[in-house]
Amino acid sequence: MTSVDLDQLKKAAALKASEFVRSGMVVGLGTGSTAKHLLVAIGEQVRAGMKLRGVPTSQETAALAKQAGIPLIDAENRWEIDVAIDGADQVDPHFNLIKGGGGALLKEKIVAASAKQFIVMVDHTKQVQVLGGSFPLPIEVIPFGWGSTAREIEALTKSRVVLRERNGAPFRTEAGNLIVDVHIDRISQPGDLETALNLIPGVVETGLFVGRTNVLIVGTPQGVHTLHAPKT
Ligand code: A5P
Repeated sequence: MTSVDLDQLKKAAALKASEFVRSGMVVGLGTGSTAKHLLVAIGEQVRAGMKLRGVPTSQETAALAKQAGIPLIDAENRWEIDVAIDGADQVDPHFNLIKGGGGALLKEKIVAASAKQFIVMVDHTKQVQVLGGSFPLPIEVIPFGWGSTAREIEALTKSRVVLRERNGAPFRTEAGNLIVDVHIDRISQPGDLETALNLIPGVVETGLFVGRTNVLIVGTPQGVHTLHAPKT
């Protein structure tokens, strides 16, 4: 599939996801190319008279949401988020995710964790049997001693750890941290790995989103599939 075709599938998934937004809701707004389509769709709902407020997961999303006319409450810090909607880089059959390709994983996880419902929109190429392999796991780390932190991560995962760069310089997150991308072949126990990584001093957050997704919306060439996580 071409990237244009894939973008159409992302758009179709985002349009479906926008149907979960109701008047009066506080909505967590994800980051990335799929989320961009969502912001346009929600902007149209607002123009049609829907009253809602958004919590953006990045400065990029905040700017796009403002352009789309979506009122934001990012300055508040104790939200009651009804639904958070975001993209993902990989999703496994248990709806566990790798996120953070765009570097916004920290705010994305805070917002997802504060939401009553977390909806994930992907195109079908993001679905995998086991996380890892084709997509490295992003981990946000404190700049102080990051090399030592990376060594600990390497020892734990027995995988190659690469400092993310942009334009020849280390990539900085909105919180001023660094990202290391960990090339792990198979993440067979994502929950255990998330816990172990979070115990390493210097790790701020990982791009593993385990047991958080309530609804998965997949854009496929055969149409959009809406899948609900089994209730636990
Ligand atoms: C941003 O940090 C990421 O978590 C994105 O949500 C993820 O990379 C999905 O991006 P796309 O929608 O652009 O594929």
